Amino acid sequence: MLGSKAKYMTSNRFAIRTEKKMRIVCIGGGPAGLYFGLLMKKENPAHHVTVIERNKPYDTFGWGVVFSDATMENMRAWDSETAQEIESAFNHWDDIEVLIKGKRMRTTGHGFVGIGRKKLLNILQARCEALGVELVFNREVDSDLEFPDADLIIASDGINSKIRNRYQEAFKPDLVVRPNRFIWLGTNKRYDAFTFDFRRTEHGWFQAHIYKFDEDTSTFIIETTEDIFQAHGLDKADETRSIAFCEELFSEVLDGANLMSNARHLRGSAWLNFNRLICGKWSHFNGQSHVVLMGDAAHTAHFAIGSGTKLALEDAIELTQQFRKLGATPDKIPDILAAYEEVRAVDVARIQNAARNAMEWFEVVGSRYADTLEPEQFMYSLLTRSQRISHENLRVRDKVWLEGYERWFAARSGINVDPDGPPVPPMFTPYRVRGLTLQNRIVMSPMAMYSANDGLPNDFHLVHFGSRALGGAGLLFSEMTCVSPDARITPGCLGLWNDEQAAAWKRIVDFVHTTTSAKFGLQLGHAGRKGSTRVAWEGIDQPLEAGNWPLISASALPYMANSQVPHAMTRADVERVKADFVAATKRGIEVGFDIIELHCAHGYLLSCFLSPLTNRRTDEYGGSHENNARYPLEVFRAIRDVWPQEKPMSVRLSCHDWTEGGNTPADAAIYAKMFKEAGADLVDCSSGQVSKEEKPVYGRLFQTPFSDQLRNEVGIATVAVGAISEADHANSIIAAGRADLCALARPHLADTAWTLHEAAKIGVKSIAWPKQYLSGKAQYETNLARAAAGPQPS
Ligand SMILES: Cc1cc2nc3c(=O)[nH]c(=O)nc-3n(C[C@H](O)[C@H](O)[C@H](O)COP(=O)(O)OP(=O)(O)OC[C@H]3O[C@@H](n4cnc5c(N)ncnc54)[C@H](O)[C@@H]3O)c2cc1C
Ligand SMILES: Cc1cc2nc3c(=O)[nH]c(=O)nc-3n(C[C@H](O)[C@H](O)[C@H](O)COP(=O)(O)O)c2cc1C
Repeated sequence: MLGSKAKYMTSNRFAIRTEKKMRIVCIGGGPAGLYFGLLMKKENPAHHVTVIERNKPYDTFGWGVVFSDATMENMRAWDSETAQEIESAFNHWDDIEVLIKGKRMRTTGHGFVGIGRKKLLNILQARCEALGVELVFNREVDSDLEFPDADLIIASDGINSKIRNRYQEAFKPDLVVRPNRFIWLGTNKRYDAFTFDFRRTEHGWFQAHIYKFDEDTSTFIIETTEDIFQAHGLDKADETRSIAFCEELFSEVLDGANLMSNARHLRGSAWLNFNRLICGKWSHFNGQSHVVLMGDAAHTAHFAIGSGTKLALEDAIELTQQFRKLGATPDKIPDILAAYEEVRAVDVARIQNAARNAMEWFEVVGSRYADTLEPEQFMYSLLTRSQRISHENLRVRDKVWLEGYERWFAARSGINVDPDGPPVPPMFTPYRVRGLTLQNRIVMSPMAMYSANDGLPNDFHLVHFGSRALGGAGLLFSEMTCVSPDARITPGCLGLWNDEQAAAWKRIVDFVHTTTSAKFGLQLGHAGRKGSTRVAWEGIDQPLEAGNWPLISASALPYMANSQVPHAMTRADVERVKADFVAATKRGIEVGFDIIELHCAHGYLLSCFLSPLTNRRTDEYGGSHENNARYPLEVFRAIRDVWPQEKPMSVRLSCHDWTEGGNTPADAAIYAKMFKEAGADLVDCSSGQVSKEEKPVYGRLFQTPFSDQLRNEVGIATVAVGAISEADHANSIIAAGRADLCALARPHLADTAWTLHEAAKIGVKSIAWPKQYLSGKAQYETNLARAAAGPQPS
């Protein structure tokens, strides 16, 4: 409740400067401005702090906001009075409920707190007053220059910040209008869980995000895509009609309750687009005062992870902290603002990343998941949408639910599930494709070892593959195995163009088949313009010093400035290379490989046909998706024709060229569909290495979104690869249906028995170790259990 000292000013005249240490003006009385104001006043009552807000004290938009426990802890440390007030007004709930396709599913342990936005602002306003912050309402600020005597101006004026817009050059805002439409409503029905309701109309899917925030009100946000929004004529609907539409659509979950709007401040449609904002710089000197952005004026995070208010409050805390650390006097302000921006930019980027994943999930949910995934898996995908909550996080939150899901997943994978036994985690479920059954979902990704002579496998390869097969992976892939001597990347690459090589391969594949239950895949490829180079440790991609062989590619474009220039493939080359692939396939059948993967990625020959960066052909093999894919598909079909029907085939694609003008995941989806129609069973979703100009964005599971997109949009099974390094990653990916298999490369170089070790680490004992190694299994598991139990008394 706001006390009597609140000033209701309509005048533009600003109060005369009084005795102070610093003069601080916060433009905008949202969570950021109010909280910073009160913290600074609390730090030093001599500061003169003013918060100016265009609205009346109770006149705010929005319904409830949600917080996490971590934010509350932070607030408690900085101002226990507000924290206590907020906590006593909190509505706490643990459960998430999902409604889709007639199913209602619930999980617990998710720990949210919700508070009405009005209530939160009133608590902050009252505390500001108690500390002596000057609150000015009903005043629209047009410019920061209205406060010439301010040392510091906080632009806490929200997403449409006038102050930020005045100094676009300095702040470099990058504002992206996201495609979905949403309307932020409320209802008097109280929900005892954070509820997600998905409803299909004749035009597509709508979703509601619903959470209670006080004794009798819940937030009710409804979202859909632009085309569905328009198909229903909502672009022409006024607020009353929009509400009526939503009430009817969500009548089951509303159960007779009405929806309410409080967006009177909005002009035009009550349906909004989320604006994603990142600023290149957060502070600026306007010639008289330092101006700094805070909260939504500086950055936004989508409501899908509900962190906008948290970020605003944490900005306020960090800036106060920097004043405390470096000294709260005007001369220190430039250093303080720089430090504030440096610290906050990292945290904000982390949250924005998670928010982006979650937001994108909701943007594609209708076209990608809602129709294709079964409700149980759909719910798992929803819960892990930000990729910050993993399989093991879910176990901590709700073990019973997760184990139920693991059993559901295992049963779908063909396991005879024992309802009382320990469930089998998703990565350890079998996978069947055509006549091939893999005992688990872990794949050793293809890795060139550059250790052959004349393409001939030797004892290094026997030990290399043999030890990984003993190490528990369900499927091993050969390195890119070349179909002719001139198809090699380096003189050290393996081949399968003669009988001697086939015999040497057979020795290795037979060892794997007779000694382990791993299956063995052959990755077949042709280096194209990236051939005739040195082995990796002597200069990756560098041309040989001597003994170079001529190169071919889709077009006569070198990979690097100092690379050999390939010649554009002629009709004769096209036929010869296709015949080489077929001959290698026939040898692969004799060797006994279980699956073939056609290497169409990483800038090698077939990849160069697929990418517009490397394919400039004007004949039937270039110029459109259809033409670019023509040759890779011809090769694929020629292999498929001779490769036994009961054996599967995979295609490795670079799903993103990471280069302007190159392929993106949308292009990869087009190619994946073509390969699917040609008989491909799996797409192995890699990226990059097509252009030296590439700017990949690396990170944990960085290529998994490509696999997710292809699997769920195209409807083809996929292999996820790239920075997957723990069982928890693999379980999360497989369980959510982001891929069917997980391939790991570098982790298998570091640990030949990666799969066995990861099983032990997550407490799965049922995975068979080679019988010769059984005594090692027991000791390994015991040691892990001891380490987990912590130091024991001696
Ligand atoms: C649908 C939706 C749901 C959301 N849900 C959540 C959630 O669950 N949890 C969460 O943490 N966040 C949520 N948010 C985000 C949250 O509302 C904001 O991130 C948060 O309010 C940012 O605080 P702020 O102080 O920076 O800006 P704001 O809250 O926008 O405050 C800015 C203030 O400045 C005032 N102002 C603007 N211009 C002027 C001017 N020229 N002169 C005077 N005053 C001015 C405005 O009136 C406003 O009061 C949600 C947002 C949306 C759109
Ligand atoms: C030493 C090494 C050699 C590789 N050789 C190949 C290869 O022959 N064929 C291929 O498709 N990918 C190859 N790759 C890429 C990997 O298969 C994998 O996609 C990539 O390393 C990302 O997985 P990771 O993060 O688990 O290492 C190689 C990677 C490494 C580290």
